[in-house]
Amino acid sequence: MCGIFAYCSYLVEKDRKYICDVLCNGLARQEYRGYDSAGIGIDGDSPDAPMILFKNVGKVAGLRNQLETGIPTPSPFDEERSVDPNAQKPKTDMTRVFLSQTSMAHTRWATHGVPAPSNCHPHVSDAMTEFSVVHNGIITNYKELKLVLLKRGYAFHTETDTEAVAVLCKYVYDSQPHKRLSFTELIKTVIKELEGSFAFVFKSRHFPDEIVAARRGSPLLIGVKTDRKLKVDFVDVELPQDDRGPGAVGPKLRRSQSRAFLSEDGMPQPIEFFVASDAAAVIEHTRRVLYLEDDDIAHIGEGELHIHRLRRDDGLSSVRAIEHLEIELAEIMKGQYSHFMQKEIYEQPESVVNTMRGRVNFDTRSVMLGGLKAYLPVIRRGRRLLFVACGTSYHSCIAARPVFEELTDIPVAVELASDFLDRRTPVFRDDVAIFVSQSGETADTILAMRYCLERGALCLGVVNVVGSTLSRETHSGVHINAGPEIGVASTKAYTSQYVALVMIAVQLSDDSISKTARRQQIIDGLHDIPAQIRKILAMDKALQQLAKDTLAKEKSLLIMGRGYQYATCLEGALKIKEVSYMHSEGILAGELKHGPLALVDEHLPVIFIMTRDSLYPKVQSALAQVTARKGQPIIICNDDDDSVPESAKVIRVPRTVDCLQGLINVIPLQLLSYHLAIMNGVDVDFPRNLAKSVTTE
Ligand code: F6R
Repeated sequence: MCGIFAYCSYLVEKDRKYICDVLCNGLARQEYRGYDSAGIGIDGDSPDAPMILFKNVGKVAGLRNQLETGIPTPSPFDEERSVDPNAQKPKTDMTRVFLSQTSMAHTRWATHGVPAPSNCHPHVSDAMTEFSVVHNGIITNYKELKLVLLKRGYAFHTETDTEAVAVLCKYVYDSQPHKRLSFTELIKTVIKELEGSFAFVFKSRHFPDEIVAARRGSPLLIGVKTDRKLKVDFVDVELPQDDRGPGAVGPKLRRSQSRAFLSEDGMPQPIEFFVASDAAAVIEHTRRVLYLEDDDIAHIGEGELHIHRLRRDDGLSSVRAIEHLEIELAEIMKGQYSHFMQKEIYEQPESVVNTMRGRVNFDTRSVMLGGLKAYLPVIRRGRRLLFVACGTSYHSCIAARPVFEELTDIPVAVELASDFLDRRTPVFRDDVAIFVSQSGETADTILAMRYCLERGALCLGVVNVVGSTLSRETHSGVHINAGPEIGVASTKAYTSQYVALVMIAVQLSDDSISKTARRQQIIDGLHDIPAQIRKILAMDKALQQLAKDTLAKEKSLLIMGRGYQYATCLEGALKIKEVSYMHSEGILAGELKHGPLALVDEHLPVIFIMTRDSLYPKVQSALAQVTARKGQPIIICNDDDDSVPESAKVIRVPRTVDCLQGLINVIPLQLLSYHLAIMNGVDVDFPRNLAKSVTTE
């Protein structure tokens, strides 16, 4: 939900064109986070000049086109300043060179206010852009703040929550009699007034060449590019201070100093900083990054980075390790594929291997997940296992539940994170909660995790993004190692989550002799999965044709199955609806006669997932009920199955162990959804109204 990016260069000569390219590239790599509109703010021609803003509704490509013209976006303040809002703004000189500069950018997923230039970030406090901000998250008390500020004579021009933050900065600045607050202190004061979740970058005309970044609940990292050897040295001292203006918001102000990130000789040297929501945005510049924690306030100025804590007494250190990014640029580029979704579907033979690599030993037929080893006795003694997730990740939990119950004999509850929280579900110290999330940043899942942590449950994460909030805040867990997933529709993360969960179930049961044969059967099955996925990918052309001939013109679709395949039905239906906009519903075949059968007639396409397992006869009878009502089935069955009706359209898939069959069956559904989306003219990587990581409740 929204991607933020900032670029600060110090003693590095760059022209505006270069700076704008860096900003747009940083946004483009995070576009999956939101693509309703995009905007950038860059330095004006002098330190006194307002920031120059380019804002565009739509994707970053549109913003790039606007930058080509050099004409900035008209400001909502123009009318107040008696500037003709219809008069074209002077063209920005893109060749102007800066020795040091700070600039910011944002790609938006609209929460407050429609996608419109006025609601597009950066948001500013006033016509002179005294304070400007880009924001990812939601400020829940913005209405109250706005009321207070309106009463004090401040004006608002947008429908967003973020604007209240920019104006609050100006109010705090205006309220101090001697203007003595540093930029960091000022932002600390502002942040103490905010409720909700956020990652921010702030810029101010009062503090040229400085930016402040802060986070609570939304991810934020800083990439550092320099030739110098870095020394990280933090001192954070706060002195009481009594110079608040009358009516100042916030508690008593404190002054804070900290030193960090100097070169060993302490001499000023060229350095560049990149602040971003996602590491993918900085990897083309640097691999050295530090991840901010909640309530960190990072200040960049004069080539130095200082990290402060919002409250000194929270007992948390402000030292943040510099980490080395392991991802490769190629991993976040489309390469030979037309879309990220297509690339990620095709990556699955490798991504599932990466999930198993170093963990499954196919010779000894055993599984060892290092992160769980120390916790195995606690998990085995647990009263129940709670799986908590959203969307596709939730489906992977549904897919793995039967094998978990079978192998561990522990009761398993699968919960949608939002519903789990709404119900204030009772959680106990002897519960084991497993949070499954591709991004590790989904707000509902994070809140559910904190809820369980507070109640003393053991909390484990099954996460793709290393360094994400879920992977840091859970007691332990498993990284699924699927590699960056950029397409908004989750594909390879699903299969890797599924594999990771099966591996956990297998490892948990390795103390049970009676389950040995079953474990070995599953491990042998896992061995063959990559080759079997490849076989389905080779059927892509035929699936494309099937989508064209039978589904492309339909309005609605049902996907039915039961047992292990219920999750496949749910996941297939979600994929189809989110990228092709066709209504589709995943239905447990056992529920057919309790309602959904009423929908069936000769016009409604129904996909039956009818691969061989113990429930096959029951799915056969559901199929008979549908064909008796002239339903039009498409059957996904095993390649050796000769008992499917000859008249039906059939997708034949390789056979594997029952509990792994969903890994195979979901692939044709992913491919069908991809082709349906293309046929419906949808930009599959950016389906309308969605964003990849949902960092708001
Ligand atoms: C669907 C999809 C979403 C996510 C959901 C949870 O294709 O991607 O349903 O699965 O928003 O996201 P994570 O897994 O990042 O917690």
